[in-house]
Parts: sequence; C-alpha cells; structure tokens
Amino acid sequence: MAEHKKIQIAATGSWVPSHRVTNEMLAKKLDTTDEWIVSHTGIHARHVAQAGETTASAAVHASRIALERAGVAADELGCIVLATSTPDYTLPSTACLVHRELKAGRAAAFDVSAACTGFVYAMDIARGLMGRDPRPTLVIGADLMTRIVDWTDRNVCVLFGDGAGAVVLKWGSGDAGLGESILRVDSEGFFALRREGGNRHHLSEQVDAPSGRSFLHMEGKPVFNFAVKAIDEVVTELLEKSGMTLDQVKLIVPHQANFRIIDAAARRLKTGADKFFLNIAEVANTSAASIPLALDALVNANRLQAGDYLIFVGFGAGLTYGGVLVRWGCSAPLAVV
Ligand code: UT7
Repeated sequence: MAEHKKIQIAATGSWVPSHRVTNEMLAKKLDTTDEWIVSHTGIHARHVAQAGETTASAAVHASRIALERAGVAADELGCIVLATSTPDYTLPSTACLVHRELKAGRAAAFDVSAACTGFVYAMDIARGLMGRDPRPTLVIGADLMTRIVDWTDRNVCVLFGDGAGAVVLKWGSGDAGLGESILRVDSEGFFALRREGGNRHHLSEQVDAPSGRSFLHMEGKPVFNFAVKAIDEVVTELLEKSGMTLDQVKLIVPHQANFRIIDAAARRLKTGADKFFLNIAEVANTSAASIPLALDALVNANRLQAGDYLIFVGFGAGLTYGGVLVRWGCSAPLAVV
C-alpha cells in the first residue's frame, strides 16, 4: 500500500518578553480598572518588550526552540515565512533578519502581512511552497503590538501584548498533517482596524504623532461582530469540507483577541467555550503570534496526543480571516528545550 505523505507540524516554539504588565499596573497610569479589562476581554496581563527586544529577536528565540525540537538545522530550511504587522524595518522583511541571525543558508525568506490572521495565511503559503521544494520550512508569527498602540488610549492599549511563536513544517508519513484550509478577507471592513503611515501619505502629511509614527486605530464593536461571524463561518466550512463534526475535533485554537468573542462564537457553533483553547489571560492579543503561542502552550502542557484534530482559526485587520484543520502527529510531547 502506498504510504501517505502529508505536511506535518514537526515541532513548536515560542517566546514572550519577561517584562509582565498586569491590569493593576496599567490602572495606575490609565483611566481603567482590572475589573473592566477582565470582564470585557478575559485579559489579566500582557508581556511587553523592552529596549533591545524586537520582532526579529522574538522570532529568533521562538524559532531556535522549534528548530532544536524538530532536529532541523537552520541551513536545512527551504523557506522562512514570517507573519507580522510590526516589522523591524519597513524594508527589507523581518524574515530576512531572522534568516541572517539563524544562518539559514539557501532558504528563501519573506514576510506575510495579514494582521492577526497572519499565521494561518503563512502556514498555508508555506504548505503550497513545500509542494515544489520539499525541504523543511519555518513558519513564524511574531508581533510587538505594544510598539504601535497609543498608551494613552484605554480603548486599545489594554488589549495587546508582545510575543512570537514558530513551527517547523516537514513532509512526513501517516495520516497526521495539515488538512483543509480557508483564507478569506472581508475588505468592506478595511478601515475598522488599521495603522496609517504607509506610502499613501506624502512625507509632508502628518499622521497621528508629531514624530510621524502612527498608532493602531480600531473600531471595537464592528471588529467584535465580524470576529464572531468569522469564527463560525471558518469552523463550520472546514468541518463540512473535511466531512467531520465538531465532536471529532479535540480543540479549536483561535486567535486570542477577546474571551467574549470566543464565548459568542461558541454559542453560535452550539458548543461550549471549553472547546476553545485560551491563554489570553496571560498574554493578551499578540496578533500574528497568538495562535502559535497558544499551540506551544498546549504542547508544553502535554495536552496533545497523536491523532488529535485541531482547528486553528484567525481573524483581524483587512478584515482577514481563515483557518486550517490539523491532525496532530507527535505521539509523545516534544522535548522541552
Ligand atoms: O485582533 C483583532 C482585533 N481586535 C479585536 O478583536 C477587538 C474586538 N473588540 C472588542 O474586543 C471589544 O469591542 C472591546 C474590548 C474593544 C470593547 O468592549 P465593548 O464591550 O465593545 O465596550 P464598548 O466599546 O461598548 O465601550 C464601553 C465603555 C465605553 O465608555 P462609554 O462610552 O460607554 O462611557 C468606553 O469608553 O467602556 C469604555 N472603555 C473602558 N473603560 C475602562 C473602553 N476601554 C476601557 C478600558 N477601561 N480599558
């Protein structure tokens, strides 16, 4: 019988800055309370990058762990695909800095811009590329969102944190691996979540701050409503395409934006919030890093077994959204480095 070959997640890794900022710490500087933040979002704390810590350095930390656990040397990689909205430089890509730091030899490297759906987009792009180049591929979600929020705007700044997560994808035998996927965008909502300061503006035009730096702008309610529908649509269609029911899925690993979004989506899907894995309480919304950070937390907690079905579902600016069904392939927990 012909052996199945599928693209599998060989290992995961993640990193968050050591500087932890609680809601109480924010409430000392901002007109907010721990009670408001917890009741409206489920967030208790976030990790905030300090001087010298960048999106690239975060990505390198997470990647080194994933590569070591996968037993893959950086110079064996075919490609580095890095999802971010907070690149170190506008040009070239942050993936090139990661390539340089890891000494990734003859690998290609580029960034994907799909906001909080970035990791799902990056995984699907990487999978497509591996059809032509079978070498292992590093997929990273990394964002320092705290660098682009206005720390005087309580509507936005309390929601975000910093971090990076990485996976190594490899061709493997057996049934485990990446299954059906969906990538979409509801561009009618383009302006609901955006950061200005790109080349649309002439240099003489001031954006938000006198320095010319701009902040993340978000209309919370429409984004909230979009997110709930997006999760429902993606999960429902992935199950239909795969001929599966939600009962067969062990966990949904969603983009971690707000506990109440997950709660409302769970009700639409006629399931409980416990069908979703959440670590938002500790890390807040880390944008493209959020799904691989959550996945790595599951791995480290020994919660996954070979054969488990997972659904990753992302949503964010664009308004992009998407998901991928994964059959977990590691029979034992991956060694913690
Ligand atoms: O990664 C994807 C991107 N983002 C999202 O997915 C976020 C989607 N949206 C949300 O999660 C929610 O809309 C928020 C958490 C942003 C806001 O929750 P909400 O229940 O929709 O609150 P609201 O916008 O209705 O605001 C209610 C009140 C307002 O006061 P007034 O106008 O009623 O007097 C806000 O000014 O809460 C106030 N408020 C705060 N109060 C204390 C907003 N932020 C804060 C705060 N602390 N941090």
